[in-house]
Order: sequence, then C-alpha cells, then structure tokens
Amino acid sequence: MATRVVLRLIKEAVSSNGRSKPNFDFAKRRRFCTSTPPPPPPPPPARKIPYSSKKGRLFTGATIALLIGGGAYASTVDEATFCGWLFSATKLVNPFFAFLDPEVAHRLAVSAAARGWVPREKRPDPSILGQEVWGKRFSNPIGLSAGFDKNAEAVEGLLGLGFGFVEVGSVTPVPQEGNPKPRIFRLPKEGAIINRCGFNSEGIVAVAKRLGAQHGKRKLETSNTSSSTEDDVNHGGKAGPGILGVNIGKNKTSEDAAADYVQGVHTLSQYADYLVINISSPNTPGLRQLQGRKQLKDLVKKVQAARDEMQWGEEGPPPLLVKIAPDLSRQDLEDIAAVALALRLDGLIISNTTVQRPDPVNKNPVAQESGGLSGKPLFNLSTNILKEMYILTKGKIPLIGCGGIGSGEDAYEKIRAGASLVQLYTAFAYGGPALIPQMKAELAQCLERDGYNSIYEAVGADCR
Ligand SMILES: Cc1cc2nc3c(=O)[nH]c(=O)nc-3n(C[C@H](O)[C@H](O)[C@H](O)COP(=O)(O)O)c2cc1C
Repeated sequence: MATRVVLRLIKEAVSSNGRSKPNFDFAKRRRFCTSTPPPPPPPPPARKIPYSSKKGRLFTGATIALLIGGGAYASTVDEATFCGWLFSATKLVNPFFAFLDPEVAHRLAVSAAARGWVPREKRPDPSILGQEVWGKRFSNPIGLSAGFDKNAEAVEGLLGLGFGFVEVGSVTPVPQEGNPKPRIFRLPKEGAIINRCGFNSEGIVAVAKRLGAQHGKRKLETSNTSSSTEDDVNHGGKAGPGILGVNIGKNKTSEDAAADYVQGVHTLSQYADYLVINISSPNTPGLRQLQGRKQLKDLVKKVQAARDEMQWGEEGPPPLLVKIAPDLSRQDLEDIAAVALALRLDGLIISNTTVQRPDPVNKNPVAQESGGLSGKPLFNLSTNILKEMYILTKGKIPLIGCGGIGSGEDAYEKIRAGASLVQLYTAFAYGGPALIPQMKAELAQCLERDGYNSIYEAVGADCR
C-alpha cells in the first residue's frame, strides 16, 4: 500500500515535471513559419489536482494524522492530565493580552469567563487546603478579589477556574461610569498595576438581577451536591459550587455614605455568602475617612442593623466584613481593631491598593499616574498591616490577606501573618488561569514541608 502511494507520488511528480515546461514559444515559431500558420495551442489538460497538491496533500495528510494521533493519545490520558494541559495552554494567550490596552484586555477576559471560554477545574483540591470559615466550607483558601468582576458577569466561569471563592463588586447603588479612561496602567516589570477606576459599576439593580438569575442555580447546586459534598471533602474534593462574596461601594456624589451601603445590603445580601463594605478605595474622595474610629463604628452599626432586620432562613445572615487600606497609621489600626472587636465584625480584608509608590516602582514614569497601586510592590506593606491587625484582634476575627500575592509561597506567608483566607487580583491579571492550580499545589507543599496538617494550624504562625 505504502509502495503504491510512493509510486503514485513519483508518477505525479514526473508528470508535473513534464507539465512544468509547457512554454512553447509560438510567437517565435511564427517568425520562421509564416506560410502555414501554426494550429492553435491545445488547451492545457484539465488538472484535477493543482500543481502544489503534492506538498499540500502531504501537509494535509500529516495534519490529519497528527490530529488523529493526538486525539487518540489524548483520549487515553486521564481527565486530570487533560485538565492540566488546558490550564497550561492558557499561558499561550497571555502575550496576546499583554499587547492590548489593559481595560480592553480585562473586558475580553471577563467576557471569556462569562461565556465559559475558560478551562474548568476538574481536579480535586488538595485536602490540606480545605477549611471552614464562618461555618462555610472553603475547598481552598485562594480567592479572586473585588474589582475583576465588578458587575457579577462571570461568577460561574471564575469559580470554575478553581478559586476557593470569588468576590464581585464593588457595586454602587446607582450606576456610575467611574473616572475617565485611561484609568488602568500596567507596570509589568514590577508586577504591578495602578488603577483609578473610581467604582465604575452597573449598579445594585443590574447586579441583583444577574445574581438572582444565577443564585437559584447556585443554591440548587448546593443542595444537589450536599450529599456528595461530605464524601468529596473527605477525599479532598471541591465542596459545593464555591463561595460568593459581594463587595459594596458608594456613589461618588452621594452625601450619605451609610445610606449607600445600607441600600447595597438590602438589595444584594440575599445573594451573598459574605458581604464586604469597601471603605478603602483611594479613588473615591473622602471614602477612606470612613475608617476613622467614630465613622466606622456608626457605619458598621447601621449596616449590621440593616442586614439583621431582613428575613433570614436557617443559615442566618451573611457575615459582614470591612475592607481596609494599607496606608493606615498604628492609631488607625488600633481604632479599627477596637471597633471590629466591640461590634463583633465577622472579618476584615487587608488590604486594598496603596497610594504609596514604594521602591522600585517610584523609578518607573508610570508611577506618576494617580491611583491605587497593587501587585508585588504592595506585598510587604499589606502583610505588615495584616500581622499588626492579627495581633490587635488577638486572632479572634477571620482576616482575608490581600495585596501582592503571586505564588503559593506568598499565600503561605499571608496565612502565617494571620490570614485565614487570601485573595489576589494583579498576579491573576498577569498570569491568567494557569496560576491558580500552580498556587494551590505550592501552598499545599509549603504546609506539608513545615509539618502542618491544615491551614488552621498555620494561621498567625509568624505572630506567636
Ligand atoms: C483594576 C483594579 C480594580 C479594582 N477595583 C476594586 C473594587 O472595585 N473594589 C475593591 O474593593 N477593590 C478593588 N481593587 C483592589 C483589589 O481587590 C485588591 O484589593 C488589590 O488590587 C490588591 O491585591 P493584588 O495586589 O493582588 O492586586 C481593584 C484593583 C484593581 C487592580
């Protein structure tokens, strides 16, 4: 058979060689034989296969063979390996995103996740990463922080990437555009971003509609998987469909901040596994002043009351957290800790972006842009504040560590500094989906290396 194919190829090659010299010069001939005009040239024989067919067919054949061979091989590998390939393959897309305007790239990423055009984590999380916080089961402690999916467009897709939890928002009561563009700036060498988005939000009504449509499904999935969940957790599996946080902001022109947060809570808390009041964005004038002792106390009381006056089922109301800035003095931290303990706040997120420009970012001309800095240069600043807050609150309040996390080792450092859970944004924006399984594996290794059997044991280890 192979011989026949080779012979055919040779035959075709030979005949096509013959055809390669058809340029008989009739004009020249006419010059010598003027008496008898030459017959018109015969029409070239109809070629069923174009001249380039040999190479073309070889190429097509090789491609088909590769596809069939590859497909056959892929069908023999297990689901976990295939899933790993898919996540690794997303790295190929990162350079393309890096060429685009940051906001365009972000829009594309959210749309892709919303349409499910992202890999879905099918591999169970390492059992050492599972824990319970606020009575909720987290299959791993690595979450996506607020700002990525501001309008809750892609919750399912993002949870499907393998995050332990996803926080949507910040959502403002009334839709607002945010600051003029450009408002997101990359500092790739420093692994950082500066943003001054200023709470661009579709508003609580649009987000509530979206979450309402998804929430039924989320609840349904929770009850459907509830029987298998325990079994999954015993074997280190994913527990349920994932945890959703809703982060609430305030409108730029609103005079009454508390009223804005209360409105957000009334409309959105039924969809949230936990709620966050964000009083630490540097891009809304006056917002950070709400972190002062008296202002914070008044605000938290009002929001807690608003949440508690709603009708809650067996599960009770969602826990309420406050997200704070990394640019706080020792006195500010003491005040916040005192309020948090006195009002039994359920948790703190530490931290939002910084208005500082630490070394080496200050040498980059982009550092002149106003806004909040996130990513690697924020790591030490936010980790120090986290440590202080863990000590001030005596480890009594679950803390979410956020700021500059880009690896499992970074997540581990935040946990040792007092975080029960961690979140990231910037490193995910640069590294894409492949970062998530990598971080989980690294974090599990760190815990095992140091002899811990669970995250609980490691929380605050560096503060003791
Ligand atoms: C473009 C961008 C938009 C953000 N928007 C919000 C937001 O709306 N609400 C909020 O609480 N945090 C927001 N953040 C802050 C992040 O949630 C996170 O706290 C901060 O970036 C530090 O984490 P990272 O170093 O891992 O990025 C935003 C961050 C970026 C980069």
